[in-house]
Amino acid sequence: MCGIISIKGKNAIRKTISGLKKLEYRGYDSCGIAWKNKKLNIKKSKGYISILEEKVKNIKSELTIGHTRWATHGVPSELNSHPHVSMDGKFMCVHNGIIENYKELKKQFLQGYEFYSDTDTEVIPNLVSKFYKDLVNCNPSCCNRRRNSKYSGECYGSKCKCASYCDDILTAFKMAIDQLKGSFAIVLINDYNDKIYFARHSSPMVISKTKDMIICSDINGLDDKSNTFYLPDDTYGVLDNDFEVFDTNSKPIAIKYSNYKGGIENKLSGYKHYMLKEIYEIPNAIELTKDALYGASLTLPKNISQILFVSCGTSYHASLMAKKYIENFAHIPCECVIASEFISSNNLILPNTLGVFISQSGETADTLKSLEKAKSQGVYTLAITNVQNSHITLIADTTVLMRAGAEICVASTKAYTTQLFVLLQLTNYLIGLQQGNFRIISEKIQSKKQDKVSEGEISKANTCVGATELVEVLSKQDCLGISSDDIANLTGLDISTIDKQLDNLVDKIYLHKQFHLIGKDYDYITAMEGSLKIKEISYIFTDAYPCGELKHGTLSLIDENSIVFVIMTERDLIAKTTNAIHEITSRGGNVVCITQFDDIDLSDCYYVIHLPKLNQLFMPIVSIIPFHLISYKITTKLGLNPDKPRNLAKSVTVE
Ligand code: AGP
Repeated sequence: MCGIISIKGKNAIRKTISGLKKLEYRGYDSCGIAWKNKKLNIKKSKGYISILEEKVKNIKSELTIGHTRWATHGVPSELNSHPHVSMDGKFMCVHNGIIENYKELKKQFLQGYEFYSDTDTEVIPNLVSKFYKDLVNCNPSCCNRRRNSKYSGECYGSKCKCASYCDDILTAFKMAIDQLKGSFAIVLINDYNDKIYFARHSSPMVISKTKDMIICSDINGLDDKSNTFYLPDDTYGVLDNDFEVFDTNSKPIAIKYSNYKGGIENKLSGYKHYMLKEIYEIPNAIELTKDALYGASLTLPKNISQILFVSCGTSYHASLMAKKYIENFAHIPCECVIASEFISSNNLILPNTLGVFISQSGETADTLKSLEKAKSQGVYTLAITNVQNSHITLIADTTVLMRAGAEICVASTKAYTTQLFVLLQLTNYLIGLQQGNFRIISEKIQSKKQDKVSEGEISKANTCVGATELVEVLSKQDCLGISSDDIANLTGLDISTIDKQLDNLVDKIYLHKQFHLIGKDYDYITAMEGSLKIKEISYIFTDAYPCGELKHGTLSLIDENSIVFVIMTERDLIAKTTNAIHEITSRGGNVVCITQFDDIDLSDCYYVIHLPKLNQLFMPIVSIIPFHLISYKITTKLGLNPDKPRNLAKSVTVE
């Protein structure tokens, strides 16, 4: 988690603050900046970047490191916020990730050092400081290390023969990172020279070379996204007017730049909060995604035997919905695993498995790690993400982009609904695949040299378990029975027809301490996602169950104070769902029913929310919207900020 930006260039402080504001979606409980003006300086704040901005507004510098934090070790406070400083004040660093062995490192190398914070990070500048002193004082053991390093040479302390080309700080920095266990993206500046040192392991960073030199935890922090270099994993380096990058054996890495156009639209456009704006953008987000997908094709292995979905949070709920779509209509067995569980369990991967990794941000550490694990087991991997050029797109075999536009609010709304739309299209592709609606890529390469298909794609196919052929699945025909009128009804959805039904309800329930949500089949998944949405931003306890599970435990909680949301969008399940409603109302509980059916007796219910009637396949997209709006309304009524819930961040970049 956390955001890093470090700049070498004119007006670096102002630009660093502006970059940090763009990175606030990665964490926003505290922040800090260090800069050099002959000497090192530092300022930190608890809370939003705007507070830090005030503290540094008239200061100028051409060398900075900045950080916005999401606390892992130690409470959010000025002391625990980054940059962290070595005991001698000579090294300052910012860090994303977790140093798992920081206690051992303190014992092994840093006896007698004083630490002022509760963080794991503080060992890093101290280790660099210690190793640097060792090198300069030239004790024999360090000479050995130095001989083994890129900057080898005989060492004679201050009379060192190699002094002209030897960067002792880079050597000390490498010695320090070699000791670290866990995950890290680190940027360090020092009192001795004006260079910036950086390293990464399992935590992304990009370098941008324009008129300024910038290191950033992701491209969203950059104004100018041209000429960016994605730092490969397990590398380190040094930046001055240009930069050098090395692998763990200190071999130089070739630099390849990419150009990215687009970025986060940081405008509220008249809305009070991003969340409300993003809910109202749902129809448009789906329309843009539809336009990008229709007529497109997708490269997949032939003969898929199973689909493995791996993701987190809301994206996991989208995968549960996909399992239903695909098993019902494409008849391919699916498994959905939460990414953090996938990393730490032994999963049985069948031959011909397609791995689908869903991530709005494309930067979620658990999902990225899972993707790498699945790839190493020979799985052909498809990423579904909203962010072009995000890290997931760089490591997956193939990608489908959602076009929801920037989602700034921590709670995912338009991205979730767009994910569901993409997953319906994936179902369509898979049915097409079974119907032979594809062409074999090797044939395509032979017949049409101009097509953008590389030989690499074929060799990729050969490395996947059992997937001996990659095919291009064509999405020309609709295999799900969705008409153009159905699509027009969805993309023309008027959110205000749902919105205007909710104020009366919210006035009555916003002070409640807990809510239950239930549903059957697709509606049960909507209950799970609705429950996550409410608790995530309003801090009210919620839980979600399939209707039939109530009587196996939760019913004991139901009394006249209970509010139970019941989602009912499948006609075949009306009888069973209304049974659950009776079980609740007969115990005095209050049911808020969300349905598109107006031909059933819901007079027992405390409140009914009427959904627009759309093609049945789209009902999961529509039935979640009342929960988006209810969460938003409750949260704002409680005086909380829906865009930045406490303890959370938009992009969870730590495992
Ligand atoms: C959604 O409201 C949450 N903020 C969270 O569960 C999120 O979906 C999860 O962290 C996964 O993020 P990703 O889709 O960017 O990978």
